[in-house]
Amino acid sequence: MRKKITIVGSGMVGGTTAQRLAERGYADIVMVDVVDGLAQGKALDLAEAGPIVGFDCRIVGGTVPPGPRNDYELTANSDVVVFTSGAPRKPGMSRDDLLFTNQRIVEQNVKEIARHSPNCILLMVNNPLDAMAQLALKVSGFPKQRVVGQAGVLDTARFRTFLAWELGVSVESVNAYVLGGHGDDMVPLTSYTTAAGVPVSKLIPKERLDAIVERARKGGQEMVDLLKTGSAFQAPSAAVAQMVDSILLDKKQILPCSAYLQGEYGIQDLFVGVPVKLGARGVEEVVQIDLSQEEQAALHRTTASVRSLVQKMGLMGL
Ligand code: LAC
Repeated sequence: MRKKITIVGSGMVGGTTAQRLAERGYADIVMVDVVDGLAQGKALDLAEAGPIVGFDCRIVGGTVPPGPRNDYELTANSDVVVFTSGAPRKPGMSRDDLLFTNQRIVEQNVKEIARHSPNCILLMVNNPLDAMAQLALKVSGFPKQRVVGQAGVLDTARFRTFLAWELGVSVESVNAYVLGGHGDDMVPLTSYTTAAGVPVSKLIPKERLDAIVERARKGGQEMVDLLKTGSAFQAPSAAVAQMVDSILLDKKQILPCSAYLQGEYGIQDLFVGVPVKLGARGVEEVVQIDLSQEEQAALHRTTASVRSLVQKMGLMGL
């Protein structure tokens, strides 16, 4: 029997995530949205691409409250549930401005999903990302291994893209780490960022490297400013698909993800982006790497931003 993936939210991120995963063909897919017909329509359209692209997985759509139907039953016994529901940013907004709107949406969605799929892994994509992952852990009551946030894979991909352009090499030859919360104070780790194993600090002059770091940090904002009516979806959905592969194919890739820390990196009871081993059991390990004093200080600064959002939602002391 094929694995089952539910994608909550059928907007641009949800829709492209469904497409990427359907084209892999190893799992059936359920799409849900509050807008009646949206998920059904996108699911049907995608299913009809199957004969051309060559996949057999089942793709269905449903409507969930506050929409006019309650199709949560369709999502029952999913292995992975990806949450893309929630308002995207508009120009001039920070991810944090979405806090209370998305808190309400995520609370409702996670409660229903956890009831219908008590053994699933929750993969959060909603912003503000780390705070929403913390909320999902609280509302679901799941063990921490089964709640993970997508951010670092996306932020790292942006960083790798800009570095590869600068160096004139394949993106596949550039390895990078971006840690911390998914906000403008995220921490690109230049000390662990290499092209063919050579630290990029040896290959790119400092001012250029600083400018690339800054562009990667503001990568989400750059997209919002360009698109004006929404935020990025191609790179975010590619990041989700890589994480789902690692979980459902039990690849145990080490990827930067938002994970619940209990003492690792000196951070207590908070979701923050760190390298994790992602496999069939979810976050199987938080990988601890040595950080310079400067990097450690930067990581703690981003942690303070995440903590303040979590406090605003009244969630401290899980
Ligand atoms: C981004 C948003 C989606 O980074 O968080 O593009």
